[in-house]
Amino acid sequence: MLKIYGMLDPHTHLRDLDWSHKATFASETKAAIAGGYTAVFDMPNTPPTTTTRAALQTKLDKINTDAHCDYGVYFGASQHDNTAEYDGLTGVCGLKIFCNATTGDLLIEDMEDQEEHIRAWDVGRVIAVHAEGSTVEQILNIVRHHRKPVHFLHISTADEIKMLQAAKEDGLPVTIGVCPHHLFLTEDSLRTLGPLGLMKPELKTRLDRDALWYAVKKGVVDVIESDHAPHTLDEKLNDAGKPVYGVPGIETTLHLMLLAVKQGWVDLEQIPLLLAENPRRIFGVPKHEGTYTLVDTDVGCEVSNRSLLTAAKWSPFDGMLANGKVREVWIRGKRVYHDGRFMVEPGYGENLFA
Ligand code: DOR
Ligand code: ZN
Repeated sequence: MLKIYGMLDPHTHLRDLDWSHKATFASETKAAIAGGYTAVFDMPNTPPTTTTRAALQTKLDKINTDAHCDYGVYFGASQHDNTAEYDGLTGVCGLKIFCNATTGDLLIEDMEDQEEHIRAWDVGRVIAVHAEGSTVEQILNIVRHHRKPVHFLHISTADEIKMLQAAKEDGLPVTIGVCPHHLFLTEDSLRTLGPLGLMKPELKTRLDRDALWYAVKKGVVDVIESDHAPHTLDEKLNDAGKPVYGVPGIETTLHLMLLAVKQGWVDLEQIPLLLAENPRRIFGVPKHEGTYTLVDTDVGCEVSNRSLLTAAKWSPFDGMLANGKVREVWIRGKRVYHDGRFMVEPGYGENLFA
């Protein structure tokens, strides 16, 4: 039995509020626990976007009432300059800047605007960026100047890894997150997955995937994050010519990483680092003796849409044989999950940054 203290996914899109038809804080925090997590951080690109104090309060009120597990909430950088909102801001796990286009309408492409948001952010919490390709270099130039900790989300190519590894060796305060879909799928997978394989960043080549695995094994990658992005199956399959980007992942990440252990792509000792200790260190979440997950690493499991708890009810990994079974999840001294049964009410989850 593997005991992991404080499994934390710092990259999830829980939806709710005006997108509760996709998923709710209640449904996705329950799915998170089933996936072994004790805490999740929610992204700001759900309408109303989390880019004002008022919108933040609306989200905090709702998630506080509904969450089964602990949580953090990102504030979002807006293209309609909202930097005045940063002054004295509390209650958030970090700032999210979308520097490339994806689901929702948050987008800051101009380097001067990106720099202005990074300069203005003095909240003492991490800045998490969606940056792809040359945008990674652009953000690194800003970090070189301002020296604020920046977490690069869902890194997906060999080139990006190379740039970020060099930046780390230069002593820049940067960290790297990688998602299971970029580790287990490639652009070839689109032939079978169709629109279910569409996400941002998109699936890449086998060479990119191999470079990601090498970087994971060598400890260059800090975090495995799901980028859990529930959309309804209908929205994904009947997109009316306008692709819908994003895949659910909160219930499959641990199982896929335990499969990777079995395959020898990563060491068992790295699992608690990648899924718990590193994200907790990066975002400043202390270890709690009563917050942990017990997972049986000796049993196989099959990913199946039928048994998923996410409101999306589908996975790009449906039918895949993975590894491990989550036996127990404990949050702040309370056993909230035991062999498929939940012993927790909505609202038990706490804001880790309150
Ligand atoms: O594929 C994606 N979906 N990538 C993102 O960056 C956002 C996410 C979503 O919110 O659906
Ligand atoms: Zn995301």
